[in-house]
Amino acid sequence: MNIHIAYYSATGNTRKVANRMAKAVSCKAESITSWKDSSTIDLLFLGAAVYANHGHGLHASMKAFISGLDSKKVKAVALFGTGFIHSDAIERMRDLAHSRGINVLGESFFCLGRFAFFNLGHPNAKDLREAEDYAKRIVTRMST
Ligand SMILES: Cc1cc2nc3c(=O)[nH]c(=O)nc-3n(C[C@H](O)[C@H](O)[C@H](O)COP(=O)(O)O)c2cc1C
Repeated sequence: MNIHIAYYSATGNTRKVANRMAKAVSCKAESITSWKDSSTIDLLFLGAAVYANHGHGLHASMKAFISGLDSKKVKAVALFGTGFIHSDAIERMRDLAHSRGINVLGESFFCLGRFAFFNLGHPNAKDLREAEDYAKRIVTRMST
């Protein structure tokens, strides 16, 4: 199974989660800002957060990335996100992906992310363990 992880991360929280998931399921985590892959992907983990300077929504580059996804090339998407509070980053990604006809898995993963003096230490060891479990669970489910 061809698995990839793509994320947007302004301050590193989502990148940390992406990297841990990548290690757990032995694939590469790559920022969408340097994404070049155009091969067929069986499972794409897609991670993001929301930003006030992007209308309290997804970063513009993530919106553009999802708008460019081809449902013939990306067979399934599994979402993850980080946030200052439990934001709607995942729901926003889900809506955009659905509008592209992409198959989005029902289960997603979210954890708190450090923002200024809030949520210090997040994503923490427990968050990362849960992210790892999520990635493994999804891959196992897709492989059986
Ligand atoms: C510039 C900036 C703007 C943000 N604006 C919002 C916001 O409007 N609403 C919100 O819930 N969180 C906001 N956050 C918090 C981020 O969503 C949160 O810290 C997230 O974990 C950042 O992920 P990242 O480190 O991968 O970029 C903002 C963070 C930054 C850095």
